[in-house]
Amino acid sequence: MPITERLRLGVNIDHVATVRNARGGDTPDPLRAAKLAEEAGADGITAHLREDRRHISDRDIDALVEALTVPLNFEMAATDEMMQIALRHKPHAVCIVPEKREERTTEGGLEVAREEKRLANYIAPLREAGCRVSIFIGADSKQIEAAARIGAEVIELHTGAYCDAHAEGRLVARDTELQALREMSAYAHSLGLEVHAGHGLTYDTVAPVAAFPEVRELNIGHFLIGEAIFRGLKPAIAEMRALMDAARGDALKSTG
Ligand code: PXP
Repeated sequence: MPITERLRLGVNIDHVATVRNARGGDTPDPLRAAKLAEEAGADGITAHLREDRRHISDRDIDALVEALTVPLNFEMAATDEMMQIALRHKPHAVCIVPEKREERTTEGGLEVAREEKRLANYIAPLREAGCRVSIFIGADSKQIEAAARIGAEVIELHTGAYCDAHAEGRLVARDTELQALREMSAYAHSLGLEVHAGHGLTYDTVAPVAAFPEVRELNIGHFLIGEAIFRGLKPAIAEMRALMDAARGDALKSTG
């Protein structure tokens, strides 16, 4: 498939809130980070309101909905509480993620195939409210098929296993994970799903994923917020944007 569209960058600002919450005050402000991200070329802002509110708060979501000019991708678990919040705000996109209290981050994708009926019923009101519903899953054809059957418009592929293998120098595993992501991006696209990807991406790992022609959006957070400590948020995001565009351009050349 030829690359025809610019790859979108969604900047996840959760960990600005993590730093704020370490002291319990008002700074650093995730909304300020979101506005800087917009200026640096982010095409969207992602925020995950976790059940335990460990980083993003309800007030942060109110402020983002009020002030953002780019679309908000609201990440949430499939619970009744989150449904009420999502329907109150009707964000551009809702990304359904699995959530376990004891995990440090979203470790795996959603088991859509196991909960197909419940999830189909769950996402219906979100779709009726006009939200684009995205389902965060591993590179697994069964989960992709189930996501298509429940009526999701978008899937986000979990890139964590690929990034972990790269960081730990397990190069065979890294390449296997990357190949699965490549094949499953193409498969999901062939089923009519829009394909996004994210989790754990860094300057070192972003290019191969950005070059998949079917991928339309990457969501990146933790690495960018960490990098911002050393060089500021706008330059950190601008470099990620440049790496994505370069990878896309190179892929374009190689496919003619
Ligand atoms: N996409 C989804 C669905 C996520 O849950 C997360 C983490 O909150 C990300 C992308 C961003 O991951 P990271 O912060 O590791 O870049």
